[in-house]
Parts: sequence; C-alpha cells; structure tokens
Amino acid sequence: MELNIRGFTAEDAKALTDIFYDAVHGPALQYYSQEQVNAWAPLPRDYPAWQARLSAKPPFVALFKQTPVGFITLEANGHIDWTYTHKDYQRRGVAGALYTHLEKQARAQGIAQLYVEASYLARPFFAKQGFVQSSENQVERHGQILVNFSMYKSLE
Ligand SMILES: CC(C)(COP(=O)(O)OP(=O)(O)OC[C@H]1O[C@@H](n2cnc3c(N)ncnc32)[C@H](O)[C@@H]1OP(=O)(O)O)[C@@H](O)C(=O)NCCC(=O)NCCS
Repeated sequence: MELNIRGFTAEDAKALTDIFYDAVHGPALQYYSQEQVNAWAPLPRDYPAWQARLSAKPPFVALFKQTPVGFITLEANGHIDWTYTHKDYQRRGVAGALYTHLEKQARAQGIAQLYVEASYLARPFFAKQGFVQSSENQVERHGQILVNFSMYKSLE
C-alpha cells in the first residue's frame, strides 16, 4: 500500500477524530469491554476537544490516496501518544510506516529513548518495533479500569 506521511494540518482534525473513535469502538472491543471502550472514547464524538488536542500535540499523519488512514504523535521527551489506524486499514502496515517515520525524526532530534503506554492491540505492534515491556498498568478512566503496558526502546 502506497502511503504518504506528513505533519498534521488543521483540516485533518475531523478525519483523525473519526479514526480514533472508530478504532476504539471497533477493533479495541476484541480486548476491552463495551464499558471500558466507552470510558476510553466517550460518546458523542467531541470534535472541538480533539481539534484542540491535535493542534497542541500535532501528530504525523499517514495518507492513502490523499485520505488520512492513521496517525501517531512524538512528544519532545520521547513519549509516543496516539497510535491509531483507520479500522478498515489495519494490518496493512500503516502504523509501521508511521512508526518508521517517527523513529527517524526522534533520532534526528537526539532523543535517547522512546516510550509508550500500549493497549492490548498496540503491545504486539510495539514489541515488533523492538520495544520492551517494563510494567502492566491499571488506569482509571471515567470509573473504569483500563489495562495498558509501559514499553520503551533505547535509540542509543
Ligand atoms: C495498534 C494499531 C495502531 C496497529 O496498527 P496497524 O496499522 O494495524 O499496524 P501494522 O499493520 O503496521 O502492524 C505491523 C505489525 O505489528 C503487529 N501487530 C499489529 N497489530 C496487531 C494485533 N492486533 N495483534 C497482533 N499483532 C499485531 C504485527 O506484527 C504486524 O505485522 P503483520 O501484520 O505483518 O503481522 C491498530 O491496531 C489500532 O489502531 N488499534 C486500535 C486502537 C489502539 O489500541 N491504539 C493504540 C493505543 S496505545
């Protein structure tokens, strides 16, 4: 699949917000209950909040035929946030291409270590990229306990 990766623009916000909600209220249901998924991505879709979030922490965006199909965010301290692939484009290398781009940028910025709190779905993905698990976490969100996994990768 031919993908283009570029930085976030304000016009991407609605599409990325939909990718987030559809990925959580879909594929994530394999590993998380309906109540947990509702706590992770409360409905109705909050487009203004996501517009603000994405503008504050602009992600890299993967495009297939000009349409956003995934996004990932690198923070200056090496923290990776928001790894989401469009529900209809999963297991086709979208997150892999985004991650390759992110790691290259991180190395160019002199970041020594990347780290992430990975969902059950993202854990095998980050393991494949060479991340090591350091802990299993129980995170409280809107009254639900969600499990995720702290993982890190040294770039040195
Ligand atoms: C996690 C996620 C971003 C992966 O995106 P993706 O574009 O499907 O990933 P890729 O196609 O690049 O996967 C690359 C490799 O990672 C591994 N991998 C990815 N998803 C996996 C899964 N659900 N189960 C097992 N291995 C997986 C595989 O080794 C895969 O290679 P393969 O398809 O050749 O076997 C995607 O499943 C997603 O959006 N999930 C829902 C939301 C979520 O949990 N986001 C993470 C928040 S921390």
